[in-house]
Amino acid sequence: MAMVCLSDFEAYAKKYLPKIAWDFFAAGADDCSTRDENILAYKRIRFRPRMLRDVSTMDIRTKLLEAEISFPVGIAPTGFHQLAWPDGEKSTARAAKAMNTCYIASTYSTCTLEEISAAAPGGLQWFQLYIHRNRAVSQQLVQRAEALGFQALVLTADLPYTGKRRDDVRNGFRLPPHMKLKNLEGAFEYGLPPNSMDPSVTWNDIYWLRSLTHLPIIIKGILTKEDAELAVRHGVQGIIVSNHGGRQLDGGPATVDALVEVVEAVQGRVEVYLDGGIRKGSDVLKVLALGAKCVFIGRPALWGLAYKGEEGLQDVLRILQDEFRLAMALAG
Ligand code: FNR
Repeated sequence: MAMVCLSDFEAYAKKYLPKIAWDFFAAGADDCSTRDENILAYKRIRFRPRMLRDVSTMDIRTKLLEAEISFPVGIAPTGFHQLAWPDGEKSTARAAKAMNTCYIASTYSTCTLEEISAAAPGGLQWFQLYIHRNRAVSQQLVQRAEALGFQALVLTADLPYTGKRRDDVRNGFRLPPHMKLKNLEGAFEYGLPPNSMDPSVTWNDIYWLRSLTHLPIIIKGILTKEDAELAVRHGVQGIIVSNHGGRQLDGGPATVDALVEVVEAVQGRVEVYLDGGIRKGSDVLKVLALGAKCVFIGRPALWGLAYKGEEGLQDVLRILQDEFRLAMALAG
């Protein structure tokens, strides 16, 4: 099977992953209208291409908080990579490093932060945090990540409770017994309780995080100008415009549509990134043209892992890189 575009990896993953894992990766909340809107929104945005601008050499590198990456696509935090590939997040870390881009490791990784960091020494890695009711657990995770050399903390703001994903409910989704939430082992004696997230988190908790770490703090899950302004005022260094791939509140905007008001509110005071629905290089170009510095991919990275682990994820990133370069050239 020739792997030409990201949909080819999606088709492969759908065909070969166990149904319960595929359903978990694909899930959106409720009737998935926001999940699907993330993708449809790109199709409504059109370029105004310019011609005869000498595109014989192009520089597609960028910087995330001073750290250079080879092109403006990183890997969004997603949980449970061992559901896609036996080596799990270690493979993800290696692929990101090989492609010289950023990997945001999830709190819900099936490898430890130590394993992830050791798999790709010197790679650009950020750590994504969910704040648990047991604050000592979160504090310890943050400090572990900082000590290991993770270079930023990404606080996910859109999950006070887990969204209602119908197929996961129908399938009774849980991790198979041989997989563990390795970073939380020991913290929850009987596995992760269903409502372990702290739903009382507010903007003031940014100050609490600030008191725990010197790492830059990036907030993930912002969709409005009001929250963008609050994020800047609370001293974060970056914002990821995200709706969690449509897995949380169904009925919110596509991320690329929300981006415009966020960029306008932020006025360049902090870096703005986006995730959600990126499936082609031209999607990346649209997001950059609308003012974000970089995008992150969630599900496509999992499809790449499901195809061939580290190599499959590199293929996905390489295809996006080639498509992005081509779109840039053709748009002048
Ligand atoms: C996620 N996402 C997510 N976000 C986060 O902050 N922590 C996490 O552990 C997870 N886990 C997770 C699992 C799976 C299977 C998916 C699909 C998503 C959300 C993720 O970071 C990102 O916002 C979306 O995946 C982006 O949308 P696309 O690229 O999947 O369309």
